[in-house]
Amino acid sequence: MDIKTVGIVGAGQMGNGIAHVFALAGFDVLLNDITQGALDNAVGLIDRNLERQVARGKITEDERKAALGRIRTTLKLADLGQTDLVIEAATERETVKQAIFEDLLPHLKPTTILTSNTSSISITRLASRTDRPEKFMGFHFMNPVPVMQLVELIRGIATDDPTYKALLKVVEKLGKTAASAEDFPAFIVNRILMPMINEAVYTLYEGVGSVKSIDESLKLGANHPMGPLELADFIGLDTCLAIMNVLHDGLADTKYRPCPLLTKYVEAGWLGRKTQRGFYDYRGEVPVPTR
Ligand SMILES: NC(=O)c1ccc[n+]([C@@H]2O[C@H](COP(=O)([O-])OP(=O)(O)OC[C@H]3O[C@@H](n4cnc5c(N)ncnc54)[C@H](O)[C@@H]3O)[C@@H](O)[C@H]2O)c1
Repeated sequence: MDIKTVGIVGAGQMGNGIAHVFALAGFDVLLNDITQGALDNAVGLIDRNLERQVARGKITEDERKAALGRIRTTLKLADLGQTDLVIEAATERETVKQAIFEDLLPHLKPTTILTSNTSSISITRLASRTDRPEKFMGFHFMNPVPVMQLVELIRGIATDDPTYKALLKVVEKLGKTAASAEDFPAFIVNRILMPMINEAVYTLYEGVGSVKSIDESLKLGANHPMGPLELADFIGLDTCLAIMNVLHDGLADTKYRPCPLLTKYVEAGWLGRKTQRGFYDYRGEVPVPTR
């Protein structure tokens, strides 16, 4: 399986980062979202991020131009049908992902590998509703994609060896490192990371500490580069809540119950950096804690 063209569904923070690294590594990229605005924002952001890499001497101006030239956008999901690899990176909701696969499958060539960047949803279940469970995998990039080295590879129960090996080769071509995870809720990184973030929200909810003291404690006391609440805002509080719900439902253990305060922020539409407000308010010069 020689993968040259890549279709990406969802041009949010993950989709644009994934498009960025694939284009830089020489793949032809076709990026899809539901609004032209989302696609324009994504391309603008990729351009600015590539410029930053040029300014830091990480890539040349010619590489920036070539990478941008390899990215095309489309509002029609069907256009992704002829690509060799599809990466679904839309909103973390199973019904959304399922609907995307249903719409895409009739247009997809038989050899295309289908993947999801889901942070937590069962790969086996997503795969079972497609026509190609053996060519379906979890392909979990970390945020921000151009910076983070790890990619989790998650095989569903039916994923075949050629598909797994093809994705290992892709990760190598991207210059990243693959870690294999079994298909259980939230895989490895988020199984460990998300309960920690949820516990930080409980710590805030119960008044043990303020936003500032909780983040500072983990940065200075546990040597974390970012505080857990700052990190939650960065990931997106809707995504954090969705992952906690998958852990809670999938493992049927009350230790994973999402903190009511996390739910409240999501209900308010305070989703973190992407909406300018979460545990911090990002609308001014410097982030200000909201509690
Ligand atoms: N945020 C993180 O740190 C992170 C890290 C790893 C993986 N993920 C996973 O990546 C996926 C995307 O997360 P994100 O943070 O980029 O979310 P996001 O909210 O930034 O972007 C989601 C995008 O999907 C688009 N979308 C929704 N429905 C669509 C459809 N039917 N067709 C095409 N596009 C559609 C939205 O318009 C939006 O642009 C999720 O599955 C999430 O769990 C997120």
